[in-house]
Amino acid sequence: MSETYTLYGQTVMDHFMNPRNMGDLPDADGVGEVGAAACGDIMKISLKIQDGKITDARFKTFGCGSAIASSSMATELIKGRTVEEALNFSNQEVVDALGGLPPVKIHCSVLAEEALKAALEDYLKKHPDVAAKVKEKEAARSAAPETANA
Ligand code: FES
Repeated sequence: MSETYTLYGQTVMDHFMNPRNMGDLPDADGVGEVGAAACGDIMKISLKIQDGKITDARFKTFGCGSAIASSSMATELIKGRTVEEALNFSNQEVVDALGGLPPVKIHCSVLAEEALKAALEDYLKKHPDVAAKVKEKEAARSAAPETANA
C-alpha cells in the first residue's frame, strides 16, 4: 500500500472508489459549477428541488480523489434537506462525514460547499418567489432576540 493511500480513511476511499450520485440531472432545477483556484479542479452539482426540498442531487467532478469523495458525500448529505437548510451547509459536515481529510485537502470539501451553494443560487434566481421567502425567514431569524439556556 502506498503512503498516499494511507493518508485517507476508509470512508474517503469508499466514496472515491464507489462514488454516489455521479452524473447529471437532465431536468435539474439548479446547477452550480465552480473551480478551485489552488489546483484547477472543477466541480458541478445539479439539484432537483420539489416543494422547497432537495429531492435529488448529482455531481460531475474533474479533480482529485478528495474532491470526488467530497462531492459524493455532499450529494448524499444534502438530499432531503430544505433549501434554507442547504444554504447553511458547510464543508465541515463533509469533512466530518468522511472521517476527516488531510489539511492540504480541506479545500476539496470547500469546493463541494461552493458548488452546492452555486446550484442553490441558480435555483433561487429562477424562483424569485422562493428567494423572497428565504430572505424573509433569514431577516426574521436575525431580528429574533437570542434566548439563553438557563
Ligand atoms: S486538490 Fe484541489 S480539489 Fe482536490
